[in-house]
Amino acid sequence: EKGGYPHFMLKEIFEQPECLTNCMRGRVNVDTDNVVLSAVIDYKKQLLNANRFIIIACGTSWHAGLIGKQILESLCRIPVEVEYASEFRYRNPVITSKDVVIAISQSGETADTLAAIKLAKENGAFIYGICNAIGSSIPRSTDTGSYIHVGPEIGVASTKAFTGQVTVLSMLALALAKEKGTISNEAYLSIVKELHAIPQKMEEVLKLNDRIADLSRIFTYARNFLYLGRGYNYPVALEGALKLKEISYIHAEGYPAAEMKHGPIALIDSDMPVVVIATHNAMYEKVLNNIQEIKARKGKVIAIVTEGDNTISRIADEVIELPDTIECLEPLLSTIPLQLLAYHIAVCKGKNVDQPRNLAKSVTVE
Ligand code: M6R
Repeated sequence: EKGGYPHFMLKEIFEQPECLTNCMRGRVNVDTDNVVLSAVIDYKKQLLNANRFIIIACGTSWHAGLIGKQILESLCRIPVEVEYASEFRYRNPVITSKDVVIAISQSGETADTLAAIKLAKENGAFIYGICNAIGSSIPRSTDTGSYIHVGPEIGVASTKAFTGQVTVLSMLALALAKEKGTISNEAYLSIVKELHAIPQKMEEVLKLNDRIADLSRIFTYARNFLYLGRGYNYPVALEGALKLKEISYIHAEGYPAAEMKHGPIALIDSDMPVVVIATHNAMYEKVLNNIQEIKARKGKVIAIVTEGDNTISRIADEVIELPDTIECLEPLLSTIPLQLLAYHIAVCKGKNVDQPRNLAKSVTVE
């Protein structure tokens, strides 16, 4: 059932273009230039009247939430908070009937997320679920929601669920922004068109697999890794670090690139690989500057750049090129090389990638 792949994780990484096509089917319509989510039609009033959104999740789903915050705030002008479900449920949070809580969970069974939903419900919030497992406990306890429709995820390290969650959050932001009138028609159309083109661009990114497998061999020696990104790519850095930790047992930390000088820069020496997402967007020059600082301290830079970048390719030790896309959709592409990097490093180290030690696919205890 691994479809010819050596591991479920690799199969699930490669399935992503098809999964996102399924996730967007009937929802992103390029012919009519429209994004339709049935939950937004059915619960328009509750969603449009919200004073704020609170996203609750754990692990990778929490990282998707951090990306969701940026796109929802930027397109819909609604304040969004992102919380670890485990913290939210125990800290007596302020919740009112004007809040919409978005619970994100692949399995739909995560104990902390379920408990956080219960608490939010008791306080009158409207609950929107973004889940994968159909009919699981979380979708059954929400007021409405959208399934990500990426199919069963078997590998303990979440891959296709993450890109599915980010896709649903992007569709939600687009549909709400259109209803609220907070997005220009031009911006709306260009994001819709680009979202529709993402599966095709993902196919391009997956062609980098052999190259990433080769470069992974160089880095199996590392005891520590740093991952840096800014804006939409900051949560991608967190996600890349989590993937590496989970399956290769190498210690890794994700940081917003600008925070490097406030501490982590002290770790950098010639043994320290730093993965930097340095795509061509508003933050490019600043991230380039970080790369120069790392090289000045002899750190090893693996840079994720936009095709045609010939500045960073001259400075970084390894360069991975991605097709260009709209900034808010970049995570859907930039995540893939980091999934592959973690996968190949773990395989080189002989680890059990699909079932890493100490981890369970769904965390049904707190
Ligand atoms: O099923 P959920 O999305 O609620 O699970 C949340 C986390 O347990 C999960 O994302 C975990 O961090 C993964 N192993 C990450 O790869």
